[in-house]
Amino acid sequence: MPDSRIHHATLRQRVVDAAHAAALIQPGETVAMSGFTGSGYPKAVPQALAAHIAQAHARGEAFRIQLLTGASTAPELDGALAQVDGLAMRMPFQSDPNARKQINAGKLDYLDIHLSHVAQHVWFGFYNEIDTAVIEVSAILEDGALVPTTSVGNNKTWLDLAKKVIIEVNQWQPVEMLGMHDIYYGTALPPHRLPIPMVHGDDRIGQTTLRCEPDKIAAVVFTDAPDRNSPFNPVDADSARIAGHLIDFLKHEVARGRLPANLLPLQSGVGNIPNAVLAGLASSGFHGLEAYTEVIQDGMLELLKSGVLRYASCTGFAFSPEANEEFRRNLAFYRSRIILRSQEISNHPELVRRLGCIGMNGMLEADLYGNINSTHVMGSSIMNGIGGSGDFARNGFLSVFLSTSTAKHGSISSIVPMVSHVDHTEHDVAVIVTEQGLADLRGLSPKQRARAVISHCAHPDYRDGLQDYFDRACRDSYAKHTPHLLPEALSWHQRWLQTGTMQPSANR
Ligand code: COA
Repeated sequence: MPDSRIHHATLRQRVVDAAHAAALIQPGETVAMSGFTGSGYPKAVPQALAAHIAQAHARGEAFRIQLLTGASTAPELDGALAQVDGLAMRMPFQSDPNARKQINAGKLDYLDIHLSHVAQHVWFGFYNEIDTAVIEVSAILEDGALVPTTSVGNNKTWLDLAKKVIIEVNQWQPVEMLGMHDIYYGTALPPHRLPIPMVHGDDRIGQTTLRCEPDKIAAVVFTDAPDRNSPFNPVDADSARIAGHLIDFLKHEVARGRLPANLLPLQSGVGNIPNAVLAGLASSGFHGLEAYTEVIQDGMLELLKSGVLRYASCTGFAFSPEANEEFRRNLAFYRSRIILRSQEISNHPELVRRLGCIGMNGMLEADLYGNINSTHVMGSSIMNGIGGSGDFARNGFLSVFLSTSTAKHGSISSIVPMVSHVDHTEHDVAVIVTEQGLADLRGLSPKQRARAVISHCAHPDYRDGLQDYFDRACRDSYAKHTPHLLPEALSWHQRWLQTGTMQPSANR
């Protein structure tokens, strides 16, 4: 196997097992790993590192690391390290239940930042120097070039900046992916930055492989393990209604001449509702669509297959097991239609604005004035993180936020008087969609927005309560531009925390 996947003579000598490679990582190190939304993460070294950490803890020795990645990973990485209490700091995004538990218990420092910011902030020196990078590749070429796998994330930056590098060569990853990636090495630091030379979402501006000085590569480990593959839920009635409202709106925008017939490049967040929107687009009559996004999931693969989508540019895959099989079976077809880029490019504000992306992301809650909470349940408990949603919401042509109108079996209204945490301000939100309908907030003043959100998005069980709050705020608020009754504004959340429902009790 080394011969077929490692064509560089010196690096072939550096093959060790995962335990030996993990032993190169010392307590307190800042470690940067590959991985983006469950794809392209190292599969063996993190688990071996977790075992070392557990042994150190059993001997009474302190051993924790600071961990950077592209975005979320999988149980073999975040899960394994969180389980042994091996993480002191985590950034920039995660969605692992064990890590989430530690973060919300106050035991793990989590830095939840815009995904387009990560690489540049590390280059700017805002964080610790990177001691070790652990990067998954599918092959090492004769000249030492590294063939990326199912995500690119921040790998270019990690390889450039790390003091030492551990490479995992994963046999499960198809070598035929060589040629799908576009790694741009032209970014510079201010004041030397130049425009990024991309005018269409399918332009290729870089090279197909990653580079790394072979002397820095301290160990090479072989693996043969699949990416995390979580199945998507079948499209339910509420998700289908949300998709329907959004697709009607997009058709309306085309009819009004505000969007071209094939729309503008789509960005879609991960999750069941965005997946339902993509499924809805399949039978919507749109053709020649484009995707300039962060992650491609099942729905986009189907759109590519049916020809509705012309190409998809992303930084990683989030496929179900079935979609993975489909991708691998028809790799030659997808190779010419998918481009994988570094996340600083897939999410770059300059490009998102130039291309005019349509950002479609999930939310936890929205308030009457259009502020969005995507991350914090009841203001303090992190769900996942902001991810790339802010990169697209602020800079895209349109920013759309999607959710069912209630959560937790109706005990929570996703439309509230005031969000308990703000990720996207009212200035970055154009459209809010729930299964109840769609609120187009463009060009509306705060009070006009509140009326649109209450009448189009709120669930009927909560609509009167919201209207009552808004009416009293309009009457009694300190000022009338964005009316609020401050002591009462977050009382809905307080009520849920105390009684388990946002519904006022019958005898109140
Ligand atoms: N209050 C409390 N909990 C809420 C809630 C609310 N208003 N709305 C949703 N939830 C809970 C759900 O009950 C569910 O909890 P569970 O996992 O315990 O069942 C969880 O949040 C996920 O909600 P779900 O309805 O399944 O939606 P989703 O999978 O589409 O996720 C977000 C919604 C907001 C969590 C998700 O879109 C996200 O993490 N967004 C931020 C990152 C992002 O946008 N990235 C985009 C670029 S890829």
